[in-house]
Amino acid sequence: MLVSPISAFLNRLHERHKSVTDGHVADYIPELSKASPDWFGICIATRDGHVYEVGDTREPFTIQSISKAFAYGLALEDRGEEHVLSRISVEPSGEAFNAISLKPGSGAPFNPMINAGAIATCGQVKRTAGESRIQRILRYLSSCAGRTLDIDEAVYRSESETGHRNRAIGWMLRNFNIIDEDPHDILETYFQQCSIRVTCRDLAFMGATLANQGINPLTREPAIHRDYVDNILSVMATCGMYDYSGEWIYRVGLPAKSGVGGGIIAVLPGQLGIGVFSPPLDAQGNPVRGIRTCVDLAREFNLHLFNPSAAPPPALRRDYDVSFVTSKRRRPLPAARTLRNYGARIRVLELQGELNFSTVEPVLRELVRQAPYARHVILDCRRVTGADRISLQLLNTFATQLAAANPPVRLVYCNAALFQRELIAVGAAENSIFADTDAALESSEDLLLAELCGPAWRPPETVGLAQCQLLRDCTPDDVEWLEQRLPARRFEAGQSIVLAGEKASEIFFIGSGAVEVRLRLSDGQVGSRVDVFAAGMSFGEMAFLDNSPRSADVIALEACECRIIDHALFAALEKDRPQLKITLLTALARLVSANLRHTNRELAAMRT
Ligand code: DON
Repeated sequence: MLVSPISAFLNRLHERHKSVTDGHVADYIPELSKASPDWFGICIATRDGHVYEVGDTREPFTIQSISKAFAYGLALEDRGEEHVLSRISVEPSGEAFNAISLKPGSGAPFNPMINAGAIATCGQVKRTAGESRIQRILRYLSSCAGRTLDIDEAVYRSESETGHRNRAIGWMLRNFNIIDEDPHDILETYFQQCSIRVTCRDLAFMGATLANQGINPLTREPAIHRDYVDNILSVMATCGMYDYSGEWIYRVGLPAKSGVGGGIIAVLPGQLGIGVFSPPLDAQGNPVRGIRTCVDLAREFNLHLFNPSAAPPPALRRDYDVSFVTSKRRRPLPAARTLRNYGARIRVLELQGELNFSTVEPVLRELVRQAPYARHVILDCRRVTGADRISLQLLNTFATQLAAANPPVRLVYCNAALFQRELIAVGAAENSIFADTDAALESSEDLLLAELCGPAWRPPETVGLAQCQLLRDCTPDDVEWLEQRLPARRFEAGQSIVLAGEKASEIFFIGSGAVEVRLRLSDGQVGSRVDVFAAGMSFGEMAFLDNSPRSADVIALEACECRIIDHALFAALEKDRPQLKITLLTALARLVSANLRHTNRELAAMRT
């Protein structure tokens, strides 16, 4: 069986560290001493929910101090950043996790990762009418793990019976009014919170939830409010490993949190969560194998946050203009020529990935450079995976500036459903957001044609055979001859005119209305629009010329009148009107060649 090289790497890493015998299983809570020193699991969960795991990743153990990071998130959601900061500072203490120390003066704990800060944090979590603090904490952590977690009652009782030092901290917090109620209930909540049972795999998913802006990659549900993910990660980065935090961030470079149950959680923001489980602890109370595993993982996979090789891909994927790629609406010849000559005034910038300050900054630079040559700029967001507020604000500020320029430049968005609400919230007009690229292109083309040609650019809604592009070179006599012989057919809006795969051989001349051509996908589903034809244009010539099945579906976009020429009539021309047959064949050859050129231009623009 094929094994991913990532799994193979994790297996080697596990092998390398499993024989380490340094450290001691925590015994200050008697129940914890029952853990086997041999348990050892490593798990990585990616932002999109894929898991790599080796060893004892499904063995349950108590979360202990790792819970502090998540309870802090819940307290922030309940009380807001300023309120929580006024009670619990965010300075690394450089002291042991159970230090009985508070900041001189305010009496605030140094940070929420040491016991004093974590107990104060518990006091900030609200009770609701239906739920106690611990029920809310349990539910919050469960949604981060993506499954229902429970409490190890034996560990809870054991900790509660021996937690005199934490009780001392609780009463000290009460003395400084950091806690403003009897600390008993808060302490019991803290002991229960530390006794929540998890596995190494749960930790990896909890980490991946933090890496994924608070959305659990398993359930796809929001678990942590996006606004507080950076607060949680910041305290993890500076204080998560107690008095080893400095060396940890230096060597590993990932926000992390350890627990005396043997767990470590580490997060590479935007990418993945790591869980490591191994009970023996070092003098600082951090798991020995866990630290060594994370140091190797970060170094060998190049995960350090401050490594610039982790720079995001550029947000500007490519750009093109309408002189190469037009909307799917085919224009009558003069309009098509105008668009080819002046199409550079409609520019499309295809964006990709996450939009934030650093990815949008080069896009803005490019917009400043291109805008003086454009009248319309379309930002195609089909491949954008997310956008933060500042990136949208910067784009919209520039859109406002462009609209006020002389001459004005119109900046619009398409395929932006993912963050449409946020775009509107920063002031983008609803009519500047288009459902797809084609709609944005067509609207810009209409405006440009109106600007360049005045009202005359609009083609007539109804035309006779004489105005059909394919019959342009026919003599009036030929047209008259065709008028008398080509049957007319009417199609209602939405009606299917041609079906892909059908054997048929007719050319349709559109007298009024419009049709769209849609390609079939490889699974047989009707796919995306490739062309829109209106009065004066024709379709169906491909199957007509090569006698092969229809290559696409044609559907009436609005009520249509068509005239139809079929093979029998065409064959009869040989004898009756040979010159007309030559004229028609020449026109068809020209049409096929023009279509091929059109496709080639698109390909040339899209390949860059
Ligand atoms: O407060 C305590 O003693 C524990 N329940 C949690 C401590 C802990 O996990 C320290 N981390 N390494």
